[in-house]
Order: sequence, then structure tokens, then C-alpha cells
Amino acid sequence: MKAQIAVLPGDGIGVEVVAWGERVLQHVATARGHTFTTASGNIGGNAIDSSGTPLPDTTLALCKQADAILLGAVGGPKWDVGPPEARPEFGLLRLRKELRLYANLRPVKLFAALVDSSPLKREIVEGTDLLVLRELTGGLYFGRPRGRSTNKQGIRVKDTLTYTSGEMERIIRLGFDLARQRRKQLASVDKANVLASSGLWREIAEQVAQDYPDVTVEHILVDACAMHLINDPGRFDVMVTENMFGDILSDEASVLAGSLGMLPSASLGRGRRGLYEPVHGTAPDIVGQDKANPLGAILSVSMLLRHSLGLEAEAAAVEDAVAGTLAAGYRTPDLTRGGPGERAVGTQEMGEAVLERIG
Ligand SMILES: NC(=O)c1ccc[n+]([C@@H]2O[C@H](COP(=O)([O-])OP(=O)(O)OC[C@H]3O[C@@H](n4cnc5c(N)ncnc54)[C@H](O)[C@@H]3O)[C@@H](O)[C@H]2O)c1
Repeated sequence: MKAQIAVLPGDGIGVEVVAWGERVLQHVATARGHTFTTASGNIGGNAIDSSGTPLPDTTLALCKQADAILLGAVGGPKWDVGPPEARPEFGLLRLRKELRLYANLRPVKLFAALVDSSPLKREIVEGTDLLVLRELTGGLYFGRPRGRSTNKQGIRVKDTLTYTSGEMERIIRLGFDLARQRRKQLASVDKANVLASSGLWREIAEQVAQDYPDVTVEHILVDACAMHLINDPGRFDVMVTENMFGDILSDEASVLAGSLGMLPSASLGRGRRGLYEPVHGTAPDIVGQDKANPLGAILSVSMLLRHSLGLEAEAAAVEDAVAGTLAAGYRTPDLTRGGPGERAVGTQEMGEAVLERIG
């Protein structure tokens, strides 16, 4: 097949890990007879430096023409000044908004070879393979009115949690669809005992469930969910939730995979076009030292192949290559635990080892 991929490395280690994502894409293309045309764009701090804005129009146009976007990460201490709309993160938020990406998928899979890399006990984390599905466009982060005022009693602050039934239904429905492609279990996470928004969320989840009799649904309160996620991650398959709960739970879930550097993500909208990026940031503490784990970016390419290009066999081949590389003992510093059979490597050697294993 032919596809156009926009590549936005961003800042810091984003540049180092996306280079490997792009090499994996081209390797898959050559090995499987596809043509992936890539074009790079600036976003984040480097875009502020070169054109005075974190999301230049040229980058946005490139992304709108592409079938999928592969992104590294944005930000760094150099740009931590000025109003929010002048900072690197705003470029990413605006890009998601312009592309109408409303669903954030964060798979958390513990590769068998990394079972001792997690801070949790082997018997708890072994076999962890779950997907956190977070709503990206509504909720407390965007609701109006918001702000602060001062009166005789002191300072008063206000944030507003708003959702429409349509916004809730589309993400819950996607949760059921994704569960159907996996182990057919959906945990719908809410706080229905306290919040009006969660009451509607649960009503809609119960209605949508009627269309998916083959999927088992569990309605779970967010506080209990946070506890079960660490006590018994194996009980979860797909977890669907609103914006802020998803933000917190997905970071909690990331510790199950052994390192932040392992985690990929996808942001999807109505069509097939998606934005794929590792979950981690720009890691200023290790930039330029050949220490960054490229596997989160490489696994993001696997998600791109699956969700935007529909190339399931190719996506699985990339995941198998990552599993094989880890099983052979390759470990970047974030994964090194000093165990027997470990082979300490840098970004480059890890990337080469994965490429060699993609059939
Ligand atoms: N999506 C994004 O673009 C994104 C996400 C998070 C943070 N950030 C930005 O990144 C900058 C640094 O933020 P932070 O330090 O809070 O988070 P971070 O994810 O960059 O780093 C946290 C810790 O994890 C380590 N780490 C992260 N990715 C790694 C990898 N691939 N391999 C090995 N180790 C890795 C880092 O060395 C650091 O010790 C900030 O400017 C922040 O705004 C961007």
C-alpha cells in the first residue's frame, strides 16, 4: 500500500527516538512491499525558535494531508517561560484539536522479559496487558467558566466539568469496539456516586452495552479502579474513562510496564488518521547521551500500522521484534536491573537490534 506519514520529532529525545520509529517504518515498507512517503515538520520548542510559534501553519498543513502522524515529544526548560499559548505544549494541544482527535489509546503491556523491571511484585504484574482509553476533548480541562476571583472571604477558584451525551457516547462506543478486538472485557470508570457527569456517563455506558452483548462490562468507581490497577492489573482488558480520570489512571498504569520509555500511544478521531507518540516527554536529563529507550516510539509505529493503515500483520511483526529484542537481553539504562543475561545498550544498538528482528 501507499501512505503519507508526517514525522514531527519535536524536542530533546523526541528527535532521537523518532529517528528509530521512522527507520522501522521504512524497514517494514521495504520488507512488505509498501511505499511510505515521509515528510518532516517542526513542532514545539524548535518551531518556536525557527518560526516563533509552536505549531507553524506548514506543519499543520502537512499533518492534514497525511494518513498518519508520528511525533516524538515537545518541551524543555529553555521554553518554560511566557504565556501558555506561546509554549511548546500548546502546539501539541492545538494539533490534536485541529485534527479533531478525541480518543487517546494507551496500551500498557508488560513484556515477559521485563517482568522483574517493574517496581511491583512479579506475581502481581506478570501478564499485564491492558488498554486505557481516555477521552481527550471534554471535561475539567476545557470546561467554562473557569478562573479565580477574590472577595472578603478570600480567593475563590472555579473549574467546570462539562460533557455532552454525544461526546460520552462516541468514546464509550469506541471502548466497546476495542474490547471486541481484544479479550471482550470493558471497565467503564466513573464517579457515579458523587458526580452528575458520571451519572450520565454510566447511563450511556449501560445503553451502549445493549449493542455489545458479547462484551462483559464492569462499572467501576475511579478510586476503586486506582487501587485494583496496582493490586490486580490482570483483571483489566480495556478501561474507558473521561479526560481527567484517564490522565491520572494512565500514568499510574505506566509503572506496570517497567519504564516510561516502553509506552506508546495513539490519538484518534472519526477517520483513520491518527497521531502516534511515545508517552514520555523530552527527557532533558539524558538528551544527546545515547540513553533514550526508543521502544515507546517504535511501538507507536506498530499502533500507526494497525490503526491508521490497517496493517495488522506488520504491526504484530514490529511487536514481536520488540519482544524478541528484550528476550535476547537488550536493555537501555532505564530497563537495566543488573540481572543475568542482560546486555546494556544505548539507543542506537537497541534500535538496530529491533530492525534486525523485523521479518
Ligand atoms: N507529550 C509530550 O510531548 C510530553 C509529555 C511529557 C512531558 N513533556 C515535556 O518533557 C519535558 C521533560 O518532562 P519530564 O521530565 O516531566 O518527563 P519525561 O518523560 O521527559 O522524563 C521523566 C523521566 O523519565 C526518563 N525518560 C523519559 N523517557 C525516556 C526514555 N525514552 N528512555 C529512558 N528514559 C526516559 C527521563 O530521563 C526522566 O528521568 C518537559 O518540558 C515536559 O513538558 C512532553
